[in-house]
Amino acid sequence: MTFKRRYTTIMQSSLFILGRQPALGIAELESLFGPELITPIDTHAAIVAVDPDDIPFNRIGGSIKLAGVLTEIQSTDWTALAKYIEDTLPKHLSGIPEGKLKLGFSTFGIHVDANTINKSALQIKKAVKSAGRSVRIIPNNDVALNSAQVIHNQLTSPLGMELIFLRNGSSTLIAQTISEQDIESYAARDQQRPMRDARVGMLPPKLAQIIVNLATGAKAPDRDFTVLDPFCGTGVVLQEAGLMGFSPLGSDLEPRMTEYSKKNLEWLQEKWDTSFDITLITGDATNLEWQENIDAIACETYLGRPFSSLPDTETLTEVMQDVNLIHKRFLQNVARQTKPGLTLCLAVPAWKTPDGFKHLKLLDSLEVLGYTRRSFVHARESDLIYYREGQVVARELVSLIRK
Ligand SMILES: C[S@@+](CC[C@H](N)C(=O)[O-])C[C@H]1O[C@@H](n2cnc3c(N)ncnc32)[C@H](O)[C@@H]1O
Repeated sequence: MTFKRRYTTIMQSSLFILGRQPALGIAELESLFGPELITPIDTHAAIVAVDPDDIPFNRIGGSIKLAGVLTEIQSTDWTALAKYIEDTLPKHLSGIPEGKLKLGFSTFGIHVDANTINKSALQIKKAVKSAGRSVRIIPNNDVALNSAQVIHNQLTSPLGMELIFLRNGSSTLIAQTISEQDIESYAARDQQRPMRDARVGMLPPKLAQIIVNLATGAKAPDRDFTVLDPFCGTGVVLQEAGLMGFSPLGSDLEPRMTEYSKKNLEWLQEKWDTSFDITLITGDATNLEWQENIDAIACETYLGRPFSSLPDTETLTEVMQDVNLIHKRFLQNVARQTKPGLTLCLAVPAWKTPDGFKHLKLLDSLEVLGYTRRSFVHARESDLIYYREGQVVARELVSLIRK
């Protein structure tokens, strides 16, 4: 589907519906497009003043939908919104090819339940039918359709349409979905890889994309641009860097891990019909000398011992000190070998305790180590922690610039 096919547009701008942890998604968008072009909408969406046709959506891990804004209505009342669609949609169907239209509705921040949406949908269906078009409505089990429903029902194809109703203060933005996150591809990149290791390799590809985007910023795909992961493990970050069009360079302390990364990257290239050079080195990130040029560093670092439940204070303190020292030496080693301006994004451990997250101590002395921590205009530093309920070890995303 192209942007032109949408039934009316008010802005050449893109609406992103953010993922489970919106701050990560906003920071990623800010990194790619700059803060000036971004307007956060409520807590879970953002408008970016860039034409949706120019958005490389499949490399964005922190958003679930990309949509084009159609109009803004000065009401948040569902009955009024549904009535607006009932009145206007039939007039705008001429650009859609012959055949049965599939129509779905997703609301964000609107006071309505799934049943009410389904009832309104029947009214809209009647109006579309009386305009001479056959239409199938995708029933809502929830107030928003999930990615599987949008993809399975081909709502982003020429005969499909998902209308998004997003509360924006006292008004509502109505938008049409252009792209949905490719959940099948993410699952394949995660679960079908030949070499996996539950102990190290559980980084979701979406999070790896966010890490790479925070490290590379607005840099366009370039096979001469090298992204180093010095703790590469099974290679999830390298996979995503390779798919984004960069040149992945990986190293790891364990030869078994660099071998795993190699096999996974070979598998990826075959499966995704792409090709790039792979360089993998076995070595300790605290003293390894990388011979290759390094343009950006993106990694999930050493997270320390995995914990299924919070250990006693003494054990936790010991692990944190140990991990802190490795990180400190690693950053010193990198600073010695790289030029000012190098950008890094590290997913480092943060430990969830009843009193909140405990952070690596060295985050308080980054300036002394030769780095400036990048802050974001639209996301708070304290929200840039990837965490799942029940976990002890979370990953804190730290964006750095080598001074
Ligand atoms: C959390 S895992 C990274 C997993 C990785 N993101 C993946 O896709 O599988 C951390 C990795 O760091 C490696 N490691 C630990 N200490 C290291 C060091 N000092 N230098 C280099 N690698 C190290 C471990 O072998 C492990 O593979």
